[in-house]
Amino acid sequence: MKARGAVFLGIVVLTGALAGCATMMGEQPTLYERLAARDFLPGGAERTVAGRDAIALVVDDFVANVVADNRINTRFKALKPADVNKVKSNLSDQICQAAGGPCSYMGRDMKTTHKGMKISDAEWNATVEALVKALARRKVPEAEQKELLGLLGPMKGEIVGQ
Ligand code: HEM
Repeated sequence: MKARGAVFLGIVVLTGALAGCATMMGEQPTLYERLAARDFLPGGAERTVAGRDAIALVVDDFVANVVADNRINTRFKALKPADVNKVKSNLSDQICQAAGGPCSYMGRDMKTTHKGMKISDAEWNATVEALVKALARRKVPEAEQKELLGLLGPMKGEIVGQ
C-alpha cells in the first residue's frame, strides 16, 4: 500500500511539474480560445458563445455602429448588402486568424484595401470607438478587449493616410 501511495504521489507531482513547465514554456490559451461573447436571444434570454461565433457577433455590432456613425458611414454608403456581408465575413476571419484561431483571412491586405481612401486619424478613432462599443455590448471581458485592440492597433499604419 505504501509503495502504491508513493507511486501515485509521484505521478501527481510529475503531472503538476509538467503542467507548470508547459505554462512556463508559454503554452497558454490563445486569445481565440479565451474569447467569449454574449448572444442576446429573443425573449430576453442570453447565452455565451465562443470562437468565431463570438467574433462574428462582435463584428455584426461593430458594423452596425459604423453604419450609424455620421463621422464614418459615408465611407461605406456605396457598398451593397452583399458587399457588407463580405466585409463582415472577411473581418471575422481576419480577427479570428489574428487571435490564433483556425481561420484563414482570404481578403485583400490592409494597404491595398484602404488605398486611395485617405482615412484620417479622426476616422480611425471613430472606428476604434465603434469596435470598443461592440465589444462592451457583447460583454467581452476587458483583458480580451485590450488584447484584441493590441492586435489591430499595429494595422493603423497600413490603413490611415493611404
Ligand atoms: C482596425 C481597423 C480596420 C480593419 C481591421 C479593417 C479591415 C477591413 C477589411 C478586412 C476589409 C475587407 C477587405 C476585403 O474584403 O478584401 C475592409 C474594407 C473596408 N474598410 Fe476597413 N478596416 C479598418 C479600418 C477602417 C477605417 C478606419 C475605415 C474608414 C473610416 C475603413 C474603411 C473601409 C472601407 C470603405 C472598406 C470597403 C472597401 C471596399 O470593399 O471597397 N476601414 N476593412
